[in-house]
Amino acid sequence: MSEQARKTAEALEYLTGFGNEHSSEAVPGALPIGRNSPQRAPLGLYAEQLSGSAFTEPRTHNRRSWLYRIRPSAAHPPFTRIDNGALRSAPFTESVADPNRLRWNPLPEPAPGTDFLSGLWTLGGNGDAAQRAGMAIHLYASNADMTDRVFSDSDGELLIVPERGGLLLRTELGLLAARPGDMALIPRGVRFRVELLDADARGYICENYGQPFELPNLGPIGANGLAAARDFQAPVAAYEDSERPTEVINKFCGNLWSATYDHSPLDVVAWHGSHVPYVYDMRRFNVLGSISYDHPDPSIFTVLTSPSDTPGLAGVDFVVFAPRWLVGEDTFRPPYFHRNVMSEYMGLIEGAYDAKAEGFVPGGGSLHNMMSAHGPDHETFERASAAELKPQKIDDGLAFMFETRWPITATAQAAGADHLQRGYDDVWQGLQRHFRA
Ligand SMILES: [Fe+2]
Repeated sequence: MSEQARKTAEALEYLTGFGNEHSSEAVPGALPIGRNSPQRAPLGLYAEQLSGSAFTEPRTHNRRSWLYRIRPSAAHPPFTRIDNGALRSAPFTESVADPNRLRWNPLPEPAPGTDFLSGLWTLGGNGDAAQRAGMAIHLYASNADMTDRVFSDSDGELLIVPERGGLLLRTELGLLAARPGDMALIPRGVRFRVELLDADARGYICENYGQPFELPNLGPIGANGLAAARDFQAPVAAYEDSERPTEVINKFCGNLWSATYDHSPLDVVAWHGSHVPYVYDMRRFNVLGSISYDHPDPSIFTVLTSPSDTPGLAGVDFVVFAPRWLVGEDTFRPPYFHRNVMSEYMGLIEGAYDAKAEGFVPGGGSLHNMMSAHGPDHETFERASAAELKPQKIDDGLAFMFETRWPITATAQAAGADHLQRGYDDVWQGLQRHFRA
């Protein structure tokens, strides 16, 4: 953590809008006008296209950016395999999928000198990275900056949810700051380096192998509501002109590969396009809900969705449980008892979650796999069943969910972790029989 990083983060400017065709130049005149690949790019830069979708995908799904950089990415030595650390990837075959409800405490404190990359720890996931289908759940815990090394993920985009400590994300396309309450997204293949804005940093990552996240359709909700496109912030161009050796670590089909460049690859002076990183403040989410009775399914809290080939069936949804009013009449107001064909991983950023009185803590997480029965714990059920139904503000927490179409298989390290809570089932054990014929 450096004072410089904090000052840099506080001074950042952003481009606004989700899915926009952005453009930015760190040096006036660096961006070609009217064409992408002129015979000689301005200022002696190299032009390079970064394609996040197939060339021929429909415009609504097409993602690509043109980068104007000091050196082309192609100028590098061979990559060689390095140790994967605690990072795992789909297909997850080292343990069997577990129908039991599972819950974890936060990761143990990392050893001194653990940076963002070396602090990645995979909880589980589904699908197959090489098939570009499915997702993985990683946690991170770090206490050091990445220095002289950058990371890129060929397997998917990274949706980062800080829980403790802020991150300064130095990406090829510019800088983003992400603090607890924000979510940040690094697109597939974009290189980045993480510096810490506080003494340490902890949080969650959804690695999405599938279709890039997009805003959900709003249907009868109308033209506004949920996450507003204009609240998504992309970086402005910023580059490093450094001849220091820089290790580039690439996650490719589940493994880490390394090559040392003789310069920083964060050397993009100008860019334009739609394959861009972004940050979003989840406290800006426009929470919608019932103003009569019952409460809607939690899909009403979807921030971003990664669609599949089947309309309405997400590869993974990112859902946030933000502060909101509950006003339903004759309504059991906490989340209902539930069994779901989709699989749900939940994390907590701060405070408490309204379905669990205790045990679900910031930095921890719960996994309710396909068709596993879950819902409020005994204490929450008894309290909510007897509560006076006056308008109630839920404002003491921020929780989120990665909800995915396929069961999540925990890694061996997650299934056997010391911080796995043994006896999670007990939270539902006190539920009494109340039936009277
Ligand atoms: Fe559920």
